[in-house]
Amino acid sequence: MLAHQHITPGLGSELASDIQLTSLSDGQISALQQLASERGIVVARDQVMSLQEQADFAHRLGEPLTRPTNPSEIPQELIRIMADENSKHAAGEGWHSDVSSESEPPGLSMLRMEVVPRAGGDTLFANMYAAYESLSPAMQAFVETLSAKHDPIGHYLYVSGAKKLEEVPSAIHPVVRIHPDTGRKALYVNVGFVSRIIGLNRRESHALLQLLYDHVAYSANIQCRVNWQPGTVVFWDNRCVQHFAAFDYFPEKRLGYRATIRGEKPISCAEI
Ligand code: SIN
Repeated sequence: MLAHQHITPGLGSELASDIQLTSLSDGQISALQQLASERGIVVARDQVMSLQEQADFAHRLGEPLTRPTNPSEIPQELIRIMADENSKHAAGEGWHSDVSSESEPPGLSMLRMEVVPRAGGDTLFANMYAAYESLSPAMQAFVETLSAKHDPIGHYLYVSGAKKLEEVPSAIHPVVRIHPDTGRKALYVNVGFVSRIIGLNRRESHALLQLLYDHVAYSANIQCRVNWQPGTVVFWDNRCVQHFAAFDYFPEKRLGYRATIRGEKPISCAEI
């Protein structure tokens, strides 16, 4: 229903160049959501969209998380993602799934880029269906039984008006979750938010998490990367991909806005 090309055989699709997101019908929005759940990420180039139009579009995808502390010119549905000559770090510099510490963690995220460096500033994505499927059957069977604690870490300010980390709750989620739209199993632990595996001692938890993080980071065949241009919009489904924002462009500027859509309580393998 939406013309697209694959970025790699297993991960990511890029929409045809004549598609403008703001003109999509409700049926095409559903097709976009389905494509993201199957392919992990969907890239749309040359999009013409104001901040308010992006916020309005986010409501067509579901319930956007809001950031009450935004300055008045930025709608509460968006967070600004910016790094420049004053930045020591950039948001998302490490493999993660957005705000997985929420009890109903995000489904889709939608990042729209306005300013890009002359080179670099790509975002890397990893396919968490493939991460699960490429574990050995014995390891799959073990991790399917486990759950992990996700803590808000530094990202709490993005999604709340809280002043202190302690005000923002943690969540416990299955280590392998079932995607509600595809029925496929996806690995769901990430170095950005997970503090420990429930029921394992500290050393066991640390060793298993490190093994799973290395599996994601070193499995180049389950990854792709997206190069941004002004007007590029990328949707990623946090239920089945992780991402990593490369910060290789200092001291140049990169500026975009992200909408983050509430998902559902993750479904464990025991529930099917
Ligand atoms: C993020 O949402 O983690 C940032 C991604 C990026 O800037 O590419």
